[in-house]
Amino acid sequence: MLAVKAEGLFKFYKDGAHGKKEVLKNVSIDIEDGEIFGILGPNGAGKTTLISILSTLTIPDSGKVDVFGIDALSDPNSVKSIVNISSGNPNFPWSLTVYENLKYFSLLYGLDDTAIEKVIDMLELEPFRNVRFDSLSTGTKQRLSLAKALLNEPRLLFLDEPTVGLDPDMAIKIRRLIKRIHDEKGITIVLTTHYMKEAEQLCERIAFIKKGEIIANAAPGELKRQMKLGETITIEYMGQFDDSQLKDIPGILDILHENGKIKIVAENVESIIDSVMKKFCDVHIRNIEISQPNLEDVFLKLAH
Ligand SMILES: Nc1ncnc2c1ncn2[C@@H]1O[C@H](COP(=O)(O)OP(=O)(O)O)[C@@H](O)[C@H]1O
Ligand SMILES: [Mg+2]
Repeated sequence: MLAVKAEGLFKFYKDGAHGKKEVLKNVSIDIEDGEIFGILGPNGAGKTTLISILSTLTIPDSGKVDVFGIDALSDPNSVKSIVNISSGNPNFPWSLTVYENLKYFSLLYGLDDTAIEKVIDMLELEPFRNVRFDSLSTGTKQRLSLAKALLNEPRLLFLDEPTVGLDPDMAIKIRRLIKRIHDEKGITIVLTTHYMKEAEQLCERIAFIKKGEIIANAAPGELKRQMKLGETITIEYMGQFDDSQLKDIPGILDILHENGKIKIVAENVESIIDSVMKKFCDVHIRNIEISQPNLEDVFLKLAH
């Protein structure tokens, strides 16, 4: 069964006195049970609006959303009991402590203290139990927000920009934590991000959203192939090399050659490397590097 099946979602907001702004345009998306799915896109693309709709917090103007087979528009309460959402900019009652905040949400969800102790333990919040929200560091606020989102043991967890504004060390820790939660609890995670690295590290599949439209949707590797973004071999050498010798090797997409350094872009480096290296038998090679395209390259290609 799919964790999420959304079809033909549209969302408009009022823009000025008479106008309306189309924030989501015919968005359809399938999310598999148990995967980490990434929704990538620049600021203002519609990521938060989309996951607010999928988590029943916002109602679309048209379209359909099923969460584990439950119609989210006609039965939002059943969906609410099996999902939760954590925002990268958590806004909790500032004068309450970590424990009091979790108590507040556990009462809302109708849960007892065992749920609170489980998440305090899982997110290593014990040292901060009696610290007020407004005294927590950004990273600890994010952990509290994750803890809150795990209170009701959701089958489906939405994370809206979970590492936004964190320094790189803390961002790495939070990403590890997300992976651990996913692996230990076997839950489905949908996260939004504008960091390509984050999506590449965490997500099995991603959707790119631009101005409210999904413009690509696949596994990262598949997207790179679809975009025909080749792998690159960079060879640094000493001596003379005539690159016209490479022209007869099938599968080479591009060659960039400047003194002592040649970059060969190919669909698949493994299938050409032998033939390429044979052409270099008369020159002294100083360095060889093979690099894969990354999501940043995909994004740049899609954005234009
Ligand atoms: N409540 C709202 N009222 C009016 N416009 C909104 C509202 N929420 C979001 N928007 C607009 O919708 C667009 C998409 O916003 P959002 O979903 O927050 O994008 P993202 O999360 O990708 O940055 C933006 O142009 C934003 O200004
Ligand atoms: Mg957002």
